[in-house]
Amino acid sequence: MIDGKKVIFSGMQATGTLTIGNYLGALKNWIKLENEYECFYCVVDMHSITVRQDPAELRKRARSLLTLYIAAGLNPEKNCIYYQSHVSAHAELSWILGCYTYMGELSRMTQFKDKAAKHSENINAGLFTYPVLMAADILLFQADLVPVGNDQKQHLELTRDIAGRFNSIYGDVFTIPEPYIAKQGARIMSLQEPTKKMSKTDENPNASIYLLDDPDTVIRKFKRAVTDSDNRIIYSDEKPGIKNLIEIYAISTGKGIEEVEKEFDGVGYGDFKMAVGEAVVNLLKPLQERYRELEKDKAYIDGIIKANAEKASYYANKTLRKVQKKVGFPERIR
Ligand code: TYM
Repeated sequence: MIDGKKVIFSGMQATGTLTIGNYLGALKNWIKLENEYECFYCVVDMHSITVRQDPAELRKRARSLLTLYIAAGLNPEKNCIYYQSHVSAHAELSWILGCYTYMGELSRMTQFKDKAAKHSENINAGLFTYPVLMAADILLFQADLVPVGNDQKQHLELTRDIAGRFNSIYGDVFTIPEPYIAKQGARIMSLQEPTKKMSKTDENPNASIYLLDDPDTVIRKFKRAVTDSDNRIIYSDEKPGIKNLIEIYAISTGKGIEEVEKEFDGVGYGDFKMAVGEAVVNLLKPLQERYRELEKDKAYIDGIIKANAEKASYYANKTLRKVQKKVGFPERIR
């Protein structure tokens, strides 16, 4: 609790450009929560280097991501938006928690298995201990709620296990966080392989809609979206391509699934794809406009980066000091 409010923590990696999967699955929900909770939203640049990055590119992407958080509607006065690498407590708590996490637990993580298969030339220790750093992110702020997409559920469960284990040894140190996974949009699928999730690092740019794609690109990608050939617009697991498009349209327009099915009853796939494309263009337009404005305002963004790193450090260090004491590190002499 901070000032009588429950706490939210979430983050995104600065690898690749955000997709509508990240937006509909996570970011969009964050905005709804800003009044009720004390919120911390991090750009997790330390997680990004588990895969090789070009330094200049990473710096640029991290800033772009932070700007996108604000452009999407997060008020930086209300939400603490900051870079993970600016708050050293993340790394420090991660080390401690690593000593309370089992190799067996980490080797069961599906994200590790997927990434290790994809980057077989660089299966580094950071990739393996990635979920420990994520647990540290969340537990540092004593977060009650963690709004994420479906793919982060397993990491959240591990975080809860680590926190529970630590608490059972040392008393009530950590708040046990709950995942917040929206009913709709928690798993937006690739437009090219609709049985796979949409990802910012997909090699095929046609598979994902990026938040900064221009309207023509958005429409073109939807037109090319892979579907079946049965030409009926029905929300069914047997029609993953159409199911995904219905879901994207429904969230983008605020309509229900059945309402969408009715609206497009008898309509062909070509027209439907066009309608989905237009809905997404409209959804992204205000965000893109705001992004272009913010990008120009260097001093404003710099001010947010500085102030919020200080705020995040304050709360993070409070937890870290408590944990250090519990495990038996000597007290600092002041
Ligand atoms: P990342 O950067 O892969 O994704 C950011 C957020 O977007 C969600 N997401 C999706 N939601 C719906 N459909 C999709 N296709 C889709 N793809 C991604 C993710 O679930 C996530 O909520 N490990 C995290 C970052 C992280 C974090 C944290 C999150 C680091 N520390 C602490 C929460 C709390 C990650 O790689 O997310």
